[in-house]
Amino acid sequence: MITIYFAAGQSRWQNYEAPLRTALAEAGIIADLSPDCSDPAAVFYIIFAPGGEIEDFTPFSRCKAVLNLWAGVERVVANPTLTQPLCRMVDPALTAGMVEWVLGHTLRHHLGMDRHIINPSRHWEPTCSPIAAERPVTVMGLGALGQACATALQQVGFPVRGWSRTEKQIPGLTTHHGTDGLKAALTDAKTVVLLLPKTPATENILNMETLSFLATGAAILNPGRGHLIDDLALLAALDSGAIGHATLDVFRTEPLPQEHPFWSHPRVTVTPHIAAETRPNSASRVVVDNIRRGEAGQPFLHLVDRDRGY
Ligand SMILES: NC(=O)c1ccc[n+]([C@@H]2O[C@H](COP(=O)([O-])OP(=O)(O)OC[C@H]3O[C@@H](n4cnc5c(N)ncnc54)[C@H](OP(=O)(O)O)[C@@H]3O)[C@@H](O)[C@H]2O)c1
Repeated sequence: MITIYFAAGQSRWQNYEAPLRTALAEAGIIADLSPDCSDPAAVFYIIFAPGGEIEDFTPFSRCKAVLNLWAGVERVVANPTLTQPLCRMVDPALTAGMVEWVLGHTLRHHLGMDRHIINPSRHWEPTCSPIAAERPVTVMGLGALGQACATALQQVGFPVRGWSRTEKQIPGLTTHHGTDGLKAALTDAKTVVLLLPKTPATENILNMETLSFLATGAAILNPGRGHLIDDLALLAALDSGAIGHATLDVFRTEPLPQEHPFWSHPRVTVTPHIAAETRPNSASRVVVDNIRRGEAGQPFLHLVDRDRGY
């Protein structure tokens, strides 16, 4: 019998208890799974979400892994008391949700859908959009989410460039990496999708200088993290028309404060951090697979590199 502490909050427990118990039974794991913990030293695995019960991991002396329910780990990775392996969430259903959000919002801008959905003057202007092959897209971040989105965009017909920290070769994509590859990745892009993690190295990656590399009137989609964009530089580029539109799902402060200029800017669409969420049924299988691996002495999947910060 192994002890698993669900330290991701009572409200999530309502949604996760049944899928986790099902996944544990399917994996043949006999476990004491609970949202309460009276003896931290007895806990083998912690299922974790930021804002939950744990700030100090020190008492969990026998814990083999902390299994994060979120893809992003910026709120736990730098916790100095966390010495146990930290695994992040790579959930097929979360990835599918992100692909749909990115495809939908890319096609909205590409097809100029707003012109026809909101047309109170009944203006008849039969102008077709170019086809996707004529509209280069750049995906910043080629991890679990970025690669899936880049591949889906490429399958629709967009020429896709990707940018990552380390060199990558992905069939059908043109790839760039590192600081030296940033300008080549962004130059003349008509759409930029940000799927980078929040680390010191990615702060303000879109700023006055890098925004100027994009094609005039480009669209920016940010389902990554709010800090990736210098907000003031973006607002200035939107005001001047250098950037045509920004669809933003994540912000430096969430919920986005009522007085923030993004809410009222005619070239900004705000979505409330809903691009993709972890889904209990599939995520429970991911978590339990890592517990099974831990018990079998196999390496954990989706391990976070503390030094890299993601
Ligand atoms: N809005 C939402 O609902 C939502 C939902 C889930 C996740 N997210 C966000 O999406 C982010 C990405 O998730 P993921 O699962 O795809 O992460 P991931 O698998 O860890 O991939 C991160 C990617 O970013 C690249 N990267 C990191 N630092 C970089 C740097 N300094 N310069 C260039 N590239 C850099 C990595 O490069 P390498 O491949 O070379 O390491 C990797 O390709 C998460 O961190 C989270 O912030 C948002």
